[in-house]
Amino acid sequence: MVGYAKPFVIAGLLSGGVVGILNLSDSAVAEAPPAAVCNTPTTPFCNAVVSPPSDWHGRVFQMSQNYPGTAPSDAQPWKSFDPVTQPQQYIAAVLAYFYEGNLRADVEASFDPKLNPVRGWYNAPWQDFGTNGREPIHGLTRERVSRPGELDPHQTRQWNNYAVGFYNAPGGATIGRVWANHGQPNPALGLMPEGTVAAKLLFTTAPVQEVPYLQGAPVWTAYVYANPNDPAPNPASPRAIQQVRLLQIDIAVKDARLASTTGWAFGTFVYGGGPGGKPGAGWTNVAPVGLMWGNDPGYSGTGPLTETWLNPAVRMPHVGYQGRLNGPVDNKISSCTSCHGTAEFPAGTMVPPNGADPAPWFRNIPSGASFDPGRQSLDYSLQIAVGLSNFHAAQALKHAPSPAAFETLAARIRQTDTRPPRDGGPLH
Ligand code: HEC
Repeated sequence: MVGYAKPFVIAGLLSGGVVGILNLSDSAVAEAPPAAVCNTPTTPFCNAVVSPPSDWHGRVFQMSQNYPGTAPSDAQPWKSFDPVTQPQQYIAAVLAYFYEGNLRADVEASFDPKLNPVRGWYNAPWQDFGTNGREPIHGLTRERVSRPGELDPHQTRQWNNYAVGFYNAPGGATIGRVWANHGQPNPALGLMPEGTVAAKLLFTTAPVQEVPYLQGAPVWTAYVYANPNDPAPNPASPRAIQQVRLLQIDIAVKDARLASTTGWAFGTFVYGGGPGGKPGAGWTNVAPVGLMWGNDPGYSGTGPLTETWLNPAVRMPHVGYQGRLNGPVDNKISSCTSCHGTAEFPAGTMVPPNGADPAPWFRNIPSGASFDPGRQSLDYSLQIAVGLSNFHAAQALKHAPSPAAFETLAARIRQTDTRPPRDGGPLH
């Protein structure tokens, strides 16, 4: 027990010796820590950084953390299509696999792994830390802020975005191996097997008036920062029950047919087909923005890309660097496989720093190779990278030699957190 941390209400630290949230201001003292002890070597992983408000009687996120020892055999419908020559059919097959058993008439109860009768889906641990950590109703983490005009020409203000990710059983088994010892994760076990699928639902606080194609989008209730336009909240910023709308769905598939580039296919969908898209309703009214399986190293910036397919029917205000694939919420100086190729331990730099030569970020990093020499590859999983970095930051806080050292470290963590990882911000 670290005595001097007590006045600070750091969920978990009070009871179990682990940091769930960095609520370091007096105003945060009223916030109740999660009831059960979690994130210790002998307990389950925590679900969220904060509890829901005391008058909340709706659903509460329970992390799917019953990782399988080995993945059961399962259909792989995308295998019927060639990702390079049939990207649209391929990405549609992956989406259908993700939807199967996850769609319910009750929108709020959709994508709850407990309720899926078809196959298991699993959440990654240690996404519940600091400013951007999981909220308690759907387990949403804070993602990049969308600046005016990025989502649609009608968008006049900046809006916060939130997301939750899932892995299928092959990915879940890998997460389980990395984190088998809750007090000592092993990054060397992070190589994902063939058939791993990760998928992520991204929601926005932006209203339909500013992003018209969100008309009809599924709405989730979440306990997120009260000011949806705040570009830099901190753990003590007030939260409120808010409604967020489905904006983007991401998928990633480990596919040996792509071994000569990255070994992975990354694809993204936008709700309603993006600007000028056709109105509809429900989870399935999404259109693919594109699919990528490599970074087109050495691309000059003109002419066709050969490792990104963009759907000609969708016109987003931006994609990624030089037209490589990126999603509506993403940073246009990057791309899916560029940012994810930096998944390693210790954490790498996810996007090219200002003024740096971007070429190293647009190499094709083979699955299992690390971005920086001498580090441990995490095989394109940034949730494992983020989780490990959060875990080690919490350890450092726990073992801070003095109150002053604790506060210095906590201040640095709050500072790095102002730019969420999905924007390419530094990990801890
Ligand atoms: C600038 C960095 C960045 C870019 C660009 C980016 N991501 Fe990610 N992505 C992240 C981070 C960080 C996480 C883990 C933390 C989280 O979930 O918020 C993540 C998580 C994910 C996950 C969950 C599994 C995992 O690997 O951790 C999927 C799937 C995913 N991203 C797909 C995509 C797709 C598809 C694109 C492109 C359309 C994309 N990402 C672009 C940073 C990025």
